[in-house]
Amino acid sequence: MENQHVRNSVAGSIAADKIELLGVDLLQRNRLRAADLRSFAASLRLDFGWHYLLDINWILEQLGTVSGCRIMDAGAGTGVIQWYLAQQGAQVVSVDRGSRALLPSRFRRRFNVLGLRPQDLRPQGQVFSEILRRPQGAGQKAGALRRELLGLWGGSASPGSVAIYNQDLAHLVDIPDNSLDAVVAVSALEHNSQEDLPGVVAELMRVLKPGGTLLASLNAARDQDWWHEPSKGWCYTEPSLRRLFSLPMHAPSNYAHYDELFADLVGCAELRDNLAAFYFRSGENGMPWGKWDPQYLPVGVCKVKQYS
Ligand SMILES: C[S@@+](CC[C@H](N)C(=O)[O-])C[C@H]1O[C@@H](n2cnc3c(N)ncnc32)[C@H](O)[C@@H]1O
Repeated sequence: MENQHVRNSVAGSIAADKIELLGVDLLQRNRLRAADLRSFAASLRLDFGWHYLLDINWILEQLGTVSGCRIMDAGAGTGVIQWYLAQQGAQVVSVDRGSRALLPSRFRRRFNVLGLRPQDLRPQGQVFSEILRRPQGAGQKAGALRRELLGLWGGSASPGSVAIYNQDLAHLVDIPDNSLDAVVAVSALEHNSQEDLPGVVAELMRVLKPGGTLLASLNAARDQDWWHEPSKGWCYTEPSLRRLFSLPMHAPSNYAHYDELFADLVGCAELRDNLAAFYFRSGENGMPWGKWDPQYLPVGVCKVKQYS
């Protein structure tokens, strides 16, 4: 009964601790938003990971209205959700251990982007100098400069904002306790080992306000934890996720439906036929050489910070 409840969760439901394998029915439930996300990402020249439309739609379903909310995107890279949330009016804190200091102009023009500290976002002029310094051919350099210049063109900034912060998620030293309404993480936390992940989760819970929600998508494992080498990420079983996120035993899960949800995913033409071009260029990614061969289901973890 509980499992069925999780599988059928819909937007507007009150957030509660749970573990939810992400089924392809998310695409049906969020048809309009999925189309909007695709055109939004294309307008920013961003690609989706092969299951990200499931992850992002699930997270947005759980979040509901975000305008005016302070939301951390944990392990953000330059990923889509932070920009999408800013467009909806959220104040986003974008955290990643990889530097975005030389963020391209197309993001700076469309969004109110700032650095949490001066070193987190360099002035636009330094992006041009960096391109000029690159050891690449004149043609490539000219192309990169042209794209940067075009990125400066027209449009107006979104109502929300994105504060870039280069930091490890286990040490968010510049973020005060109880300061964020929500933390989202799209396919980021699985890049942390079983030893490191509890420290990351504890830090994310520290910065959340009481009543705030952590919504993270990761890779699921059916029977035992395993390491997916091409994407350099862990796939976690339900007991491992309960332990790593300190979720209570009564938090519902739909892992009992793993096989049927996985079969639906393997047969999903919409995801199979829309693989991003980068998958076809390399074997070092979640879908090596663009061959549709899913090895795991994405899973969402929802953890609510309790009032003390
Ligand atoms: C697969 S990428 C996903 C990026 C983004 N969420 C998206 O939707 O495209 C995973 C990102 O998580 C970041 N990440 C993982 N663990 C992290 C940690 N402990 N601290 C900071 N960043 C982390 C990585 O640096 C990487 O940029």
